[in-house]
Amino acid sequence: MVQDWSNADTAKRWDGNTTRANPLRTEQLDILLTLLENSVQLHSWILDLGYGSGQIEELVFERIPHAKVVGVDNSDAMMTLAKNRLAEYSEKFVSVKGDLSRLDSLELPACTYGHVIAVQSLHHLSREQMQAAYRRIYDLLEPGGLFVLLDRMRVETFALWSLYRELWKRQDKLHDTTVASHEGATFQDHERIVRDRGDFPALLDDHLVWLRQAGFEAACLHAHGNRALIAGKKV
Ligand SMILES: C[S@@+](CC[C@H](N)C(=O)[O-])C[C@H]1O[C@@H](n2cnc3c(N)ncnc32)[C@H](O)[C@@H]1O
Repeated sequence: MVQDWSNADTAKRWDGNTTRANPLRTEQLDILLTLLENSVQLHSWILDLGYGSGQIEELVFERIPHAKVVGVDNSDAMMTLAKNRLAEYSEKFVSVKGDLSRLDSLELPACTYGHVIAVQSLHHLSREQMQAAYRRIYDLLEPGGLFVLLDRMRVETFALWSLYRELWKRQDKLHDTTVASHEGATFQDHERIVRDRGDFPALLDDHLVWLRQAGFEAACLHAHGNRALIAGKKV
């Protein structure tokens, strides 16, 4: 069933457990925060695409007190959770309700954007929408600006499926999580589960090609199985 972000129960459930099916989230968020911590300037803003329930903003404001964030999302249920979570940071956070699949025509506050981040949100876009989003992100960033994507990638091929499974089972043993069952028992199951949930992850290589086509210098800085952190620098 398609994940309905407008549903308050879905939003609460997701917010209440973000690592059971993705224990790597904590480590990759720490890497993202490290990258931000060392480069966020006083004059510039972070743009967060698909900010959800505000978990990322809470971490950003705790670790980088001078940071200011513009966040975009289109789920009232998630945005309400974020409003409550970020009540004490209202002066540093601007919320924009908007559709990421039309990022190219979305009106955003005219801030100087030094960073754009997207955590587990862009995989909801089609390939065409994702490429259009990368072009807009490049245009929005100031020179020297940084885009960081932290997201699920498409499993490469059927032949490699069993290798991903081994990694997920290992994660479940180490972290007492449910990654393997969440991802599906077979490659066919996996593709169906992902599609039915309304997710359209792209291959890691496709992301890098699209970012470079948009003008970025791009690299994957961290990857484990189908979870990757990709950086694009506007030089
Ligand atoms: C898995 S949550 C991630 C939230 C947050 N980035 C985090 O990691 O804590 C995905 C978020 O993307 C948002 N989203 C999905 N598709 C969207 C779209 N087309 N336009 C705007 N927001 C979207 C959902 O509403 C949801 O809040």
